[in-house]
Amino acid sequence: MKKVLIDTDCGIDDAIAILMALACKDFEVVGITTVSGNVYVDKVNQNVLRLLSFLNREDIPVFRGASGPLSQKPVRAETIHGKDGLGSVFLPETQKSLESQNAIEGIYLLAKQNPGLTIITLGPLTNIAMAVNLYPELNHLMGNIIAMGGAIDRGNVTRYAEFNFYADPESVQYVLNTPIPMEIIPWDPCAEQMFTEEEIKALIPENNRVGDLFLSLQQLPFSFVEKYYGVRSTILPDPCAMAYAIDEKVALRKLVGDIRMELNCNTHRGETVQCEGDRMNIILKLDRIKFLNILKTILIL
Ligand code: RIB
Ligand code: CA
Repeated sequence: MKKVLIDTDCGIDDAIAILMALACKDFEVVGITTVSGNVYVDKVNQNVLRLLSFLNREDIPVFRGASGPLSQKPVRAETIHGKDGLGSVFLPETQKSLESQNAIEGIYLLAKQNPGLTIITLGPLTNIAMAVNLYPELNHLMGNIIAMGGAIDRGNVTRYAEFNFYADPESVQYVLNTPIPMEIIPWDPCAEQMFTEEEIKALIPENNRVGDLFLSLQQLPFSFVEKYYGVRSTILPDPCAMAYAIDEKVALRKLVGDIRMELNCNTHRGETVQCEGDRMNIILKLDRIKFLNILKTILIL
């Protein structure tokens, strides 16, 4: 059983990725830490707490994380995820509350309790950077980091930068400077896997509450893409990263290399710059069928 901690700025695609992690028989999700990104962290907290209640998984502890990046002004993605972060999709109120410890303490606590812990990051890396800074022993306690982030050829926030890494590039660089094993699923392979509304509908049987939630969550992204590309379709970056974390054979092509963050305040800020080295696996291409087969497992929840 792989012990995993999910760090998330729970927007729409994060929610689908969390569903996939909970459906994975090989995962024990030992905790979820929240971070500002798509929306402010208070909304992320609400989304995660309500989602876990909806799934009858109130056993999973949720820790409140960073309210913003280390140095730059915050960026948000409300045009894609909505002001609440879940495209105004209704999830019932919950009595579940956050843990008393914050995300930094939660990461340390869970890494001590679960040596070799895998951290799957779906948002900016602010919590991870702060945790390793405050608890350097995490350099050797953490098993590995699997991060959705970065862009090789083309970003989604600027020509050069992908949202998660653009939102707090100093934190990314701090984590890159640690010895913690890391793999990244950049924007490029995720953006290659665009799914039409019909393809998503075809995955979902009648009267499946999780399937219905998935389809409802995708309505805002469908409309956003339709506005720019004329076809109701969606891209699922966090689910792509989660699928790789679940089964690395989802990766058709990967590069062993190293990256650094462009930190200068110019048009390239937040760019993922490839450099000499063999620090990490950089996933370049995904297997669409394998991805869909893993995505469909959420329907058993
Ligand atoms: O660039 C895509 C990433 O930014 C995803 O994690 C999405 O949820 C947003 O956080
Ligand atoms: Ca995310």
